[in-house]
Amino acid sequence: MTAIQVQDLHKSFDSLHVLRGIDFEIAQGECVILLGANGCGKSTLMRCLNGLERPDRGNAYMHGTDIATADARQLCQLRRQVGVVFQQFNLVQNLSVFQNVLYGAMGEQRFGLLATLSPLANDALRERAMYCLERVSLADKAKHKCREISGGQQQRVAIARTLMQEPSVLIADEPVASLDPSAGRNVMNLLMAIVEEQRMTVLCSLHQLELASEYGDRLIGMKAGRIELDASRDTVDHQRMASLYQGDVRVDHVPTTHHERPVTASV
Ligand SMILES: Nc1ncnc2c1ncn2[C@@H]1O[C@H](COP(=O)(O)OP(=O)(O)OP(=O)(O)O)[C@@H](O)[C@H]1O
Ligand SMILES: [Mg+2]
Repeated sequence: MTAIQVQDLHKSFDSLHVLRGIDFEIAQGECVILLGANGCGKSTLMRCLNGLERPDRGNAYMHGTDIATADARQLCQLRRQVGVVFQQFNLVQNLSVFQNVLYGAMGEQRFGLLATLSPLANDALRERAMYCLERVSLADKAKHKCREISGGQQQRVAIARTLMQEPSVLIADEPVASLDPSAGRNVMNLLMAIVEEQRMTVLCSLHQLELASEYGDRLIGMKAGRIELDASRDTVDHQRMASLYQGDVRVDHVPTTHHERPVTASV
């Protein structure tokens, strides 16, 4: 079954044409690594897929819901299904590790953030948060403020928070870019073990080619707003991956050709 289907997706910011006709499908349970140089459009693509950006043209279906035309209620439902992990962790530094993980259940709470943070947050949720922290081996840090733990540990907290949400799709935008090689590998191993256990569909961008050659089922490579490579990981050698970083790679260095221009390009 198809989890994500992207058809002729375009996105511009003012006169900058960032996504220039993106097409791919990701099957349910498939783990795809997204590669490409700085400024080629990876984060923009991922933001379109979790509903943070509206595409200008084309379709992006997530479990059958078209993100391009979804209404507010559908977008809200969609965001609940999609877990996100970012390079910068996006934790609340002054809250405890435990409270940050409880945030993961925010979408389920009738009264949102307030209810989640209140001492009345129900026992089942608190138990689940503790279980998620145990899963990332950080139960002993539950009471620490996030600012008191290391980057690798913070990313594990972010993973626990995502786990709390029980998403069916995980979008990870350079989850190990801020970590040293050993912490990065640790986090990737953990992330991959969890997505396999939970049978999540994954789109994960990475900049480290040596990691990209080790993880995931399939590689998608972008160059200047287009898909340049889409193949099973075993069939892609280092040279092909490296070619994604050569030549005109950034969208802001490559002018748009006339036929690529999105219908709703900004004036
Ligand atoms: N909200 C925005 N407003 C204007 N321009 C944007 C916006 N978001 C992204 N861009 C531009 O779109 C281009 C692609 O950016 P994007 O962040 O998608 O690239 P990326 O592949 O994720 O790069 P990196 O590897 O550095 O994270 C860049 O030129 C960027 O400046
Ligand atoms: Mg990015």
